[in-house]
Amino acid sequence: MKNDVVRLGRLSGERSEELMQFLSSMQADRSIAGADILVDIAHVLMLEKQKIIEEAVAKKLIRALLKLHDKGISEEAFDDRFEDVHAGIESLLVASLGPETGGRLHVGRSRNDEVATCIRIRVRDDLIRQMEDILRLRETLLAIAGEHTGTAMPGFTHLQHAQPTTLAHHMLAYEQAFSRDFDRLSEAYARVNLSPLGAAAFASTGYPVNREFTAKLLGFDGVMVNTMDAVATRDFALEVLSGLAIAMTGISRLCEELVLWSSSFVRFVTLDDPFCSTSSIMPQKKNPDTAEIMRAKTGSVAGALAAATLIVKGLPMSYNRDLQDLTPHLLRGIHDAGTSTRLLTGMLASADFNRERMAGEAGKGFSTATDLADSLVRAYAIPFRTAHSIVGRAVQKGSLDVATLDAAAGEVGAGFTLSEKGLTQAQVDKALSVTFSLSLRKSPGGPAPVATKGAVRERKKQLARDRAKTDERAGKHAKAKDRLIADARRLVL
Ligand code: ARG
Repeated sequence: MKNDVVRLGRLSGERSEELMQFLSSMQADRSIAGADILVDIAHVLMLEKQKIIEEAVAKKLIRALLKLHDKGISEEAFDDRFEDVHAGIESLLVASLGPETGGRLHVGRSRNDEVATCIRIRVRDDLIRQMEDILRLRETLLAIAGEHTGTAMPGFTHLQHAQPTTLAHHMLAYEQAFSRDFDRLSEAYARVNLSPLGAAAFASTGYPVNREFTAKLLGFDGVMVNTMDAVATRDFALEVLSGLAIAMTGISRLCEELVLWSSSFVRFVTLDDPFCSTSSIMPQKKNPDTAEIMRAKTGSVAGALAAATLIVKGLPMSYNRDLQDLTPHLLRGIHDAGTSTRLLTGMLASADFNRERMAGEAGKGFSTATDLADSLVRAYAIPFRTAHSIVGRAVQKGSLDVATLDAAAGEVGAGFTLSEKGLTQAQVDKALSVTFSLSLRKSPGGPAPVATKGAVRERKKQLARDRAKTDERAGKHAKAKDRLIADARRLVL
């Protein structure tokens, strides 16, 4: 067992297993260990370039680091005896290269800037993946919308039949919401991808480090300039978590609808068997468990945001160990949101929508009553409120035939009857038809097939633009990483 080189000088005394585990960040550090090797390599290349360490030392360090990069980090580095993976990796290097060489890795930096840099590298990669997942979810919603521009369904307010709409319109609404979630994460990304490295503990360092150089090597878009801010802030984590928590509310609402729509008294959708469970006692049951768990994950992600917010809220400048306890919440939030996004995409793509059931419900509950009121306004130039009162009273009476409408007009004091104005039952029936109602709602953003077809086309163009931007960012990381490793290999040739 290698000793923890960090504790060696200042502290003595044995720590209990429980205390070591309590203080250790090892579990979360597994997620940033790969990034830590990249950070170490960039740091050493910079130290060598700035002549802070000799070339021979840099070569030995780089050789050892490349070995960890190529072959993987040995389990020993993750022992709870080390407070964290940074101490673990440094201890391994000191043990394998000897203190003369291994002991020179950490000059001009601190674990405070190191860990912040590692988390940002990890999170920017996770963000790219999350954005790609949202793009695929949006793509699926647009595919369903494209197939169902003519699929009438009831639209609801207060969960009461309100007005007819189409499945395309419904799916486009979610696509639009997820597109804003994409934008929020995309904006957060710009503030995540900045390098804290070189800030050291918080007060920078007296060595002539080159922060722009390491930032560029690591594919960052810039430097977190103020060194105190660089190590102290986790606002980027709060921003990412809040973006994810907001995205999860959209996911949860869609799941809620899938639960509702798959119930036996609604039957708008049949979810594919793999996404459902059965009962251990009731052999007939098919339960929408995936959608339910996903709905619950919204609480977990919001909880991660709440925990992270409360952890930072009372901290004085600059680094405090409390920050370590934030990282697992960040990683958990990212994990839950990512899994939910991917699984929801699969659940939607394999769902079977019941066109007949939806169309059958679309005209129920007097859902085209607004259209009748509108047609009375158009035909007879009466005020909308008068038409609204007449139709409303006729609904109260239980029928929308001309005789009932006439009686209703009398009861609400309209001062005229509709039959005397020439209203026929054929005109009433036309106004009440679902297809007619939908065809009228053709202004941009509405449910008319002509409008939703146009919307699907437009949204696909936006999707392509968002995808291009994400690919460009992902490509930049990959290139930076390849270049960093190539630079490191060149040094030790
Ligand atoms: N494991 C620590 C974290 O996650 C790394 C920084 C430790 N710094 C310190 N001064 N103890 O925040």
